[in-house]
Amino acid sequence: MSYHNPFTPPRKSATFDDHTLAEIRRAAATGIYDIRGAGTKRKVPHFDDLLFLGASISRYPLEGYREKCDTTVTLGTRFAKKPITLTTPITIAGMSFGALSGNAKEALGRGATIAGTSTTTGDGGMTDEERGHSQTLVYQYLPSRYGMNPKDLRRADAIEVVVGQGAKPGGGGMLLGQKISDRVANMRNLPKGIDQRSACRHPDWTGPDDLEIKILELREITDWEKPIYIKVGGARPYYDTALAVKAGADVVVLDGMQGGTAATQDVFIENVGMPTLACIRPAVQALQDLGMHRKVQLIVSGGIRSGADVAKALALGADAVAIGTAALVALGDNDPKWEDEYQKLGTTAGAYDDWHEGKDPAGITTQDPELAARLDPVAAGRRLANYLKVMTLEAQTIARACGKNHLHNLEPEDLVALTMEAAAMAQVPLAGTSWFPGKGSF
Ligand SMILES: Cc1cc2nc3c(=O)[nH]c(=O)nc-3n(C[C@H](O)[C@H](O)[C@H](O)COP(=O)(O)O)c2cc1C
Repeated sequence: MSYHNPFTPPRKSATFDDHTLAEIRRAAATGIYDIRGAGTKRKVPHFDDLLFLGASISRYPLEGYREKCDTTVTLGTRFAKKPITLTTPITIAGMSFGALSGNAKEALGRGATIAGTSTTTGDGGMTDEERGHSQTLVYQYLPSRYGMNPKDLRRADAIEVVVGQGAKPGGGGMLLGQKISDRVANMRNLPKGIDQRSACRHPDWTGPDDLEIKILELREITDWEKPIYIKVGGARPYYDTALAVKAGADVVVLDGMQGGTAATQDVFIENVGMPTLACIRPAVQALQDLGMHRKVQLIVSGGIRSGADVAKALALGADAVAIGTAALVALGDNDPKWEDEYQKLGTTAGAYDDWHEGKDPAGITTQDPELAARLDPVAAGRRLANYLKVMTLEAQTIARACGKNHLHNLEPEDLVALTMEAAAMAQVPLAGTSWFPGKGSF
């Protein structure tokens, strides 16, 4: 005999929620894991969980119209003969040609140049579109070595040795066959149309001592002119930062788990790496312990969206930030104007993350010439420049309110946390108290 309880509505499990059930069914039907782009979609402690205190009687604010608040940053002051000075501390993160269309790369270069900042190549080499339009271009040196050549090393303004990414620390990138056009295949020395998985570790070194030798080689090739960055995913930020400094980095780039990716397994994006917020203080502590804070610059990325996020990352000790996903949105990614086409792809604006499929209606994460032509690189570049300008002004507004005449003068003392988790990770007091958990331990 069946018993139906008429008093309470059917109850769904929090553990086996709708998304989990659908994913089990998808795996059962297809036998393959899910691949997607973008960063983690789950909620993790983030910059939203911090607030600035602002000036009051004990602190004196800056007068907005008369007193300057400097936003410039110089990267590569440790060893490079030609450090890079940017007028805003918001840089464009490495995103590969292959993942992105040539027009998207050009738009990034145009926007960043107007805003006075840098762009970064990616897995797949340097395109003329990007070199031609980026006043300051950082060239990635990746485990895959796709598109790597000494000529382009010398054409760059800085070199970024990629050890890992926040979306997938310990993992390599993916570029599925449908995006491997003749041009992409040519640049990567790969066959056209065949799925490609990038290496997850460099072929010729296994640890920090080898990395030191590799950096010396790169310095020799570039006549000690270019700043050398080391990029790590947020896994063990204290030790990774310390070892990057020991290996001779001018700049450490630290990418937390919210960091976007062009294509990786969903299980990786959601379950590997630490939130950006949890990575910054240990990295800054490592720099301080080595007497290198502000001498080796720290660039933080992973989920940065607004001037408030920028100001918070800087207050926690970063010198600059990098943005990937937000820059693509500024170019036109996930724009509701393409809603009909997102619906045809089985998704909706704001949720579109099948960047590996190369069918992007906005013409950004595609190699299809017809789709790519939809993105006007001049107009998209202008949108990116506007967005960068707004973020810089927002960060400046906050810094002024905290009485700082340079963004770099923001400090942890300017912040409080809304949650215990954020207080512990950012090591700033829980709002209304003078206390945070876990003081002195990482
Ligand atoms: C479309 C796309 C392509 C990317 N390609 C690369 C790459 O080639 N090399 C790399 O180091 N990181 C790559 N990344 C990661 C970014 O450099 C950066 O770490 C990340 O996007 C920062 O987080 P955010 O997207 O939340 O701003 C890519 C990210 C995106 C969104």
